[in-house]
Amino acid sequence: MYAPSFARISAAHTPALAAWFSPEQRHNQRVGVLADQLAAHCGLSARQRQLVVWGAAWHDLGKFDLSPRLVNKPGPLTGPEWVLMRRHPRLGAIRAYRLGAPLAVVEMIDAHHERWDGRGYGSGLARHQIPLGAQMISLADVFDAMISARPYKRPMSVGATLERMAADRERAFHPELLDLALLLFEAHAATLCLVA
Ligand SMILES: [Fe+2]
Repeated sequence: MYAPSFARISAAHTPALAAWFSPEQRHNQRVGVLADQLAAHCGLSARQRQLVVWGAAWHDLGKFDLSPRLVNKPGPLTGPEWVLMRRHPRLGAIRAYRLGAPLAVVEMIDAHHERWDGRGYGSGLARHQIPLGAQMISLADVFDAMISARPYKRPMSVGATLERMAADRERAFHPELLDLALLLFEAHAATLCLVA
């Protein structure tokens, strides 16, 4: 089995990664662990799983192109700030492409904030237009973000997070993939502190 190589690649290509970005990197790694669980249980090959893990590990790389003040703002974003924040999937996809990431990984990064109902942000993809890997990353991303403390919010409990995600069935998420994620993430939540 492979190991997520985001740290090695980022150190080699972006030595200026600043300390303020390290919490984002840890989030990316945890999302990789969860997305890999989903990929494994969906029967993806080792190569496909590797692509999903890379996509997960790099999914928020575009935030490095935004200001630390915006990424770590301890409060709600304003309208203009949201305009900037919504650019991070495309910025991350561009950065990953320039680092030589496989096209499938670039597409996952670009689509990780799309929603099943087409009301996400990125290119306005919906349902099966969204790459499967991006759907897995989205589920893992939302789960880890909700159970984590951020400068602008307290962490939610695992139970409340799973309930909130279940309420978004067929809106934000592929319904069957969500069902699988709810089972896996609940079982896996206790081990996430190992990558925190
Ligand atoms: Fe993101």
